[in-house]
Amino acid sequence: DPIGPPNLSNCNPSGSECCLPSSTPSTFIALNSSTPLRTRRALQTVLQDAPYLARLNAAYATLRRLERDAPNDPRGLEQQRKLHCAFCSELVYGSEYNMHGNWFFLPWHRMLLYYHERILAWATGDASFALPFWNWDSDAAAQKALPSSYADTTSALYSARRRAAADIQSMIQSEITGDQLFMNFGDVPESDSVIGTAGGNGNLETYGHNQVHNAVGPNGSPDMGNLAWAGYDPVFYAHHANVDRMWSVWRQLPGRSDPTSADFRDSRFVFYDENATARIIAVSFVLDHATNLRYVYENVPNTWTTRAE
Ligand code: C2O
Repeated sequence: DPIGPPNLSNCNPSGSECCLPSSTPSTFIALNSSTPLRTRRALQTVLQDAPYLARLNAAYATLRRLERDAPNDPRGLEQQRKLHCAFCSELVYGSEYNMHGNWFFLPWHRMLLYYHERILAWATGDASFALPFWNWDSDAAAQKALPSSYADTTSALYSARRRAAADIQSMIQSEITGDQLFMNFGDVPESDSVIGTAGGNGNLETYGHNQVHNAVGPNGSPDMGNLAWAGYDPVFYAHHANVDRMWSVWRQLPGRSDPTSADFRDSRFVFYDENATARIIAVSFVLDHATNLRYVYENVPNTWTTRAE
């Protein structure tokens, strides 16, 4: 059956620090065709755009300031960390709400990014503001490296809790391209009569996603190496924008499709929007990101889509 939405006022802390400010989610996300279509650009593109980088920096400075001045505001950086922690690490709203290692991994993180991006847009006062993506899947060494804007110690994008030199290996295995099925590329359900497999990670989660986490933060340590803390590092959002982009690119390759099961499509989750209001959102809503979420990705070379097969 479909799951959700989780009840945010029913947190089971079990010693963790990941409960969210409680609220009664009552409003569904609404299609808003007046939202400008935004283009998420590659970091090496936006490095040429000083005004954009200044806005990105100012947005995270605002999220850090909120964390200090209004600790219960769900838009603050620490609360954004908790949101990810609650559903990806501590599972304080129930073990069924584990957004790793199963087919909710891609759509749930897409939702998380969408609302994070709306919050950054609110913080900059620019409704057309879009997240950047860190295209570590590129063959170019300069694009694999930790983006310099995030490594500037004076920037709100900086975290001291990273490896000195993030070493992003060539981790995009050719089998990702050969993955015709969502269950091999993305993740599979714990059990699903239609797809007929037991759960587990897809290749994108294992070979791209996990390796970048552990390359930036040593395995197990805050921030990026530990899922409880990862959402506290601004580079987390640029990393996940690339995971999300790769899903989008894969989806447009011949023969690829997303699961059609209602167990997948009708599952619902909750996020805080840019007005700090809790919103319910269903998986089916986010599968077409251009139409419903009003964002697209800048086109960059994707060598992994033509390798192998
Ligand atoms: Cu829920 Cu990269 O993590």
